[in-house]
Amino acid sequence: MGVTEIKDKLYWVGAVDWDIRDFHGYSTYKGTTYNAYLAMDEKITLFDTVKSNMKDELLYHIRELTDPEKIDYIVVNHVEMDHSGSLPEIIDLVKPEKIFCSPMGEKVLKSHFHRDDWPLVVVKSGDSISLGKKTVTFLETKMLHWPDSMFSYIPEDKLLISSDAFGQHLASTERFVDEIELGEVMRHAAKYYANILNLFSRNIQKLLATVAELKLDIDMIAPDHGLIWRGNPGDIITAYDRWSKGETKEKVLVVYDSMWKSTSKMARAIGGAISRCGVDVKMFNLAVNHRSDIMTEALDARAIVFGSPTLNNGILPRMADFLCYLKGLRPKGKLGASFGSFGWSGEAVKLMNAAIEDMDMELIDPGFRVKNVPTEDDFSQCKELGNKIAKAVKAGQ
Ligand code: FEO
Repeated sequence: MGVTEIKDKLYWVGAVDWDIRDFHGYSTYKGTTYNAYLAMDEKITLFDTVKSNMKDELLYHIRELTDPEKIDYIVVNHVEMDHSGSLPEIIDLVKPEKIFCSPMGEKVLKSHFHRDDWPLVVVKSGDSISLGKKTVTFLETKMLHWPDSMFSYIPEDKLLISSDAFGQHLASTERFVDEIELGEVMRHAAKYYANILNLFSRNIQKLLATVAELKLDIDMIAPDHGLIWRGNPGDIITAYDRWSKGETKEKVLVVYDSMWKSTSKMARAIGGAISRCGVDVKMFNLAVNHRSDIMTEALDARAIVFGSPTLNNGILPRMADFLCYLKGLRPKGKLGASFGSFGWSGEAVKLMNAAIEDMDMELIDPGFRVKNVPTEDDFSQCKELGNKIAKAVKAGQ
């Protein structure tokens, strides 16, 4: 890769990670990028760094423009290690005059790196610094998605450097969204939102209101992952508004795992009945689907139906994994139901129902259990459950 000038004398100098396939439980099968930006102004300023193992790529890019030792300022918009892992070595090399961070950023930097000799300068929402021709105004974005997170806005460039927000885990040689197919970028942006930010949807609604109130003139959003939104960042802002409001469609996910195919037969019967009622159905066998891809589809689904047989008085491990992951991301306003086969004790449906209620999902039905292998009568009852789910989904908004 090479540096890319994204605005006048402001460059992408980050790193492309083509190989990463797991991001603490999120399947990054298209890799990712760690975006860092360098403003070549009177005060040469680096915005964020990269993961520690990509430090050499960052330095290679910086050296295309200047000696790293000439960097005056570093802005730390976010301390998570994918953006700060190389910070200690970069600071030792650069010896910056100032390092700007949010109030929580100062605390988080200290508890990560235990360095008292860094020239940290705390900035709050609304504070501005001059780089020479460019000004940087900071906007704290607490819990988006860490307490330290903040945005940097450069009014002269109409540029918002947005940390993790509006990003995508998508490695590419291109740097701008308009250089590849929009649908591909939006799919990865939705996956990023669903798996990283969904939990903080209320904060995102507040942030969008704040940005509108401030009337920031923005024609480019440069996130810390993936491609940069230029020309019409409205596409991603509108999508964030929709996702953070929890808008859903007439769509149901049937998520299941099976031991000897009884539960998978039930899943097909229930899913088929829902589909025949004209509701969109997506079937996810947990044995072959990744939790983070299912989570992406859950973003606009109105209901999730969970299926597991009983194993050792509990549920199958992959269902336990998925429920734990889903609960952490706290989807709002969804309907739920469960089903499964059993041999003797049969606790799975009760346990899945408890998980549904624990997530504040509305339970559509007490659930349906089948002993060992389903009969024709059992399939009729699966169909009835599917019809009931479809009716509840259509009655929802
Ligand atoms: Fe991309 Fe929260 O780090």
